[in-house]
Amino acid sequence: MTDTTPDNYWQGFAQRWNRLGSPLRPCAEDVANFRKAMGDDPGRCLLLGVTPELADLSPTLTAIDNSAAMIAALWHGRQRAILGDWLEMPFAPASFDTVIGDGCLVLLAQPMQHQRFFERLAKIVAPGGRILLRVFVGPEQPETREEVCRDALAGKMRSVHAFKWRLSMAVASEAPDRTLAVAETAATFDRLIPDRKQLAAATGWRADEIETIDFYRGSDARYCYPTLSQVRNSIPASLKETSVIYGSYELAGRCPILVLEPRA
Ligand SMILES: C[S@@+](CC[C@H](N)C(=O)[O-])C[C@H]1O[C@@H](n2cnc3c(N)ncnc32)[C@H](O)[C@@H]1O
Repeated sequence: MTDTTPDNYWQGFAQRWNRLGSPLRPCAEDVANFRKAMGDDPGRCLLLGVTPELADLSPTLTAIDNSAAMIAALWHGRQRAILGDWLEMPFAPASFDTVIGDGCLVLLAQPMQHQRFFERLAKIVAPGGRILLRVFVGPEQPETREEVCRDALAGKMRSVHAFKWRLSMAVASEAPDRTLAVAETAATFDRLIPDRKQLAAATGWRADEIETIDFYRGSDARYCYPTLSQVRNSIPASLKETSVIYGSYELAGRCPILVLEPRA
């Protein structure tokens, strides 16, 4: 039997990190956009997760992640990392001037956990501080699994990682809570694109790149892709949205950085 406890899921994920790419992993443009929006003096900074690409954005950074395996595999003692849950963070109110995170909402159920997450962030960010989160949002007008696979087979997608993300979003859009079991992405792929050689010929993707879709197989992890309006509905009145920053890479329109500030 496959062990799919969260830690084992992330352990596998950590080992495969280098085989993954944008949009799941933030690209150089995302990092530059974070840096610009954080300004010259981000102050006391909290990173939600142990995303290595974001580790150098502040010299005084604390990371918090609930997977010891991810911390061990990706953090390498860079700065302070705490094992803990974003929904139960052990920090005093107003402990941080800047809070950053990459894709955190995808791992939390909406609307309840998203609301709780934002409420926790509102408490720990100091007055005058800022929260920057790259969010993975599904399109307001959902597309079908079939449309996504048709586009891939027509050679209309540049990256296999963007394809996996689009396919997952199409599956998630079928549920009212916009959540899917990630194993369903692999099962859908098997059913709609049974011939990997055909896909490779149409796209130019290497077999080992296409194989990254197999990482989802046997997992009981769930991903959530709310629309941007659904995300906004989970943000408490104590926070205000000050900007939404978009990159220019494939699927960047679905991966903006949301900038929030506490209301005075
Ligand atoms: C930030 S995310 C999303 C993927 C992403 N782009 C990244 O940079 O890793 C992945 C991390 O979130 C962590 N995580 C998931 N749910 C969590 C929670 N409730 N509290 C703390 N960490 C959590 C996982 O252990 C994993 O290391």
